[in-house]
Amino acid sequence: MAIKLEAGKKYYYCTCGKSNDGVFCNGAHKGTTFTSKEFTVNETKEYSLCGCKKTLNIPFCDGSHTK
Ligand code: FES
Repeated sequence: MAIKLEAGKKYYYCTCGKSNDGVFCNGAHKGTTFTSKEFTVNETKEYSLCGCKKTLNIPFCDGSHTK
């Protein structure tokens, strides 16, 4: 998923897969053992974020969805 992110802004990546957009935490993990992953980026630009939850480089896509 290509999404423009702003340098220095805090983002919360959804690790549970229950959020509406599948990428950013919206609190839907409540009642599970999952928690969101806080992250920032150093440069404002478009990033490829993982939507399949198989990446080994959270929150970024590493191509695992094709395997
Ligand atoms: S909604 Fe998935 S980690 Fe918060």
